[in-house]
Amino acid sequence: MLKIVVMVSGGGTNLQAIIDGIKNGTVTNTELIGVISNNKGVKSLDRAAAAGVPGIVISPADYPTRDDFNKAMLDKLEELAPDLVVLAGFLVRIPEEMVKRFSNRIINIHPSLIPSFCGVGCYGLKVHEKALARGVKLTGATVHFVNEGMDEGPIIAQRGVAVEDGDTPEILQRRVMEQAEWVILPQAIDDIANDRIEVKDGHVVRKKGN
Ligand code: GAR
Repeated sequence: MLKIVVMVSGGGTNLQAIIDGIKNGTVTNTELIGVISNNKGVKSLDRAAAAGVPGIVISPADYPTRDDFNKAMLDKLEELAPDLVVLAGFLVRIPEEMVKRFSNRIINIHPSLIPSFCGVGCYGLKVHEKALARGVKLTGATVHFVNEGMDEGPIIAQRGVAVEDGDTPEILQRRVMEQAEWVILPQAIDDIANDRIEVKDGHVVRKKGN
């Protein structure tokens, strides 16, 4: 059984897709043991509670320095000891120490086809604003392992989504979530839980027979 902790910052629709996937059997061999939010009072915590999963708030506002906050996050993860950490709309930079400690055991969902529209300052709705400003006709989402770089780790899965005339950032965000994020993130967890993929020479490959 793959024990996972999901880290969130806001609404938690990706968290919900994971909860639903585990419940309806599309995500197998997986147990959600905790949800960590860097923000208090967000809908993600209600979603965790409704699923009977402990919701834990670790907010930078409660710590004197960024290092103290980072340490609290790492301590909590050490305590929960998950096999996989899932960043599902977690809009906080992951400290290097955490990446090292959980090497190839942290995955992230990003709402574009990496390497487009990613990196520092490119998250959430901003990603879709940039995609529309550039006039791309295809965008999408990416699930990747987290390394020391920003959105630079090995790519697990991507799915393209068409941009349509008249799209607003909000409309495009919703389409990317529905058609890509909520599909490929649960799928990636299922692949990891069932040992179907591995990282070789910095790239994700499917194991033989999968
Ligand atoms: C999602 O679109 C996710 O891909 C994005 O934040 C949103 C969170 O929505 N993450 C990033 O931009 C990370 N760089 P949710 O809270 O409803 O899942």
